[in-house]
Amino acid sequence: MSDKTLSSLEGGERITTLESHIIESQREIPGASGAFSTLLSSIGLASKIISREVRRAGLFDILGLTGDTNVQGERVTKLDIYSHNLLARMMSRCGQVCGMASEEHPDFMPVSSDLPRGRYLVCFDPLDGSSNIDVNAAIGTIFGIWRSKSSPEDCTEKDVLQSGNEIVGAGYIIYGSSTIFVYSSGRGVHGFTLDPSIGEFLLSHRDIRTPKRAKIYSCNEGNSYRWNDEGMRRFVSYLKSENNATGKPYSGRYIGSLVADFHRNLLDGGVFIYPGDKKKPGGKLRLLFEAAPLAYICEQAGGAASTGWERMLDITPKKLHHRVPLIIGSRLDVEDGERFMQGQPLPGEAAAALTGIK
Ligand code: AHG
Ligand code: MN
Ligand code: MN
Repeated sequence: MSDKTLSSLEGGERITTLESHIIESQREIPGASGAFSTLLSSIGLASKIISREVRRAGLFDILGLTGDTNVQGERVTKLDIYSHNLLARMMSRCGQVCGMASEEHPDFMPVSSDLPRGRYLVCFDPLDGSSNIDVNAAIGTIFGIWRSKSSPEDCTEKDVLQSGNEIVGAGYIIYGSSTIFVYSSGRGVHGFTLDPSIGEFLLSHRDIRTPKRAKIYSCNEGNSYRWNDEGMRRFVSYLKSENNATGKPYSGRYIGSLVADFHRNLLDGGVFIYPGDKKKPGGKLRLLFEAAPLAYICEQAGGAASTGWERMLDITPKKLHHRVPLIIGSRLDVEDGERFMQGQPLPGEAAAALTGIK
């Protein structure tokens, strides 16, 4: 046997699975009981099953709309409901969760009293970007994990109405050209690519850091005529001009799947914008299911997230389906976006002239 063959057979020590990574990083936390690892593993398993269904969506009758609308009055796809049910069922049965909230369910979901309950609360968007399923574009799952302040037996909806500052872990799974699981538990952001031949997520993106300055801007610019804030329109014009901080126009990239837009921007440097508009004055995206978990990941990777007025992780939701305007991504661009929104000049005199603010 040649050395090359031998070393490739002996290469196991370089492979890190999602499960082993979670267990090893929890071992560094004094007093960690393994409960958090068990919960993350159950989300990992659910996401493999969702990935399998997404991959064959075109082959089965699962593709298409159910004909129902969800609590936000949006059309619901069969895969939205499938993913919601699967995640809710698997997390209920992992023994570490006392309650959940999902974009696809109007109310708080306590874990049934006949099942063992743990101290964690999970909020999730089971399938993000689901309007893209029928056209075969990337979609995802988003989750955020909080600790219940009440005992597992007594937790109620009020326990889940916590700010992003209280998040203990968050992640997303993107079902794209490959399936990637990205998570953080407060020690950096790590990405794992699903190897379908062995059914395991393998560490592929260690300690992701997002560039400080973006090259890409992502927004539904078709809505810009109805955005609430003139400052946001001015910010986007600034990004498209040669007079911006980089000296050349940013590239526009918008899939319409938050997870896919966010993931690309996280790796390459970008700013994603979904402001409040005349139709949705408070914004479209949901704090607990989308904005707070991604803001946590973004900050862990060195980026930032804001409503334009407030740091995203500082916001305490008033209700489960609380929506927010969102500016998220490369830190310097998010800060510039806030300046435009708030009518403050950019740092430096020349730049200040560009905001149109005297
Ligand atoms: P969901 O599919 O979970 O309802 O989320 C859709 C969201 C988000 O993924 C995306 O960024 C945004 O809606 C797109 O909205 P527009 O179609 O208004 O651009
Ligand atoms: Mn979504
Ligand atoms: Mn969704």
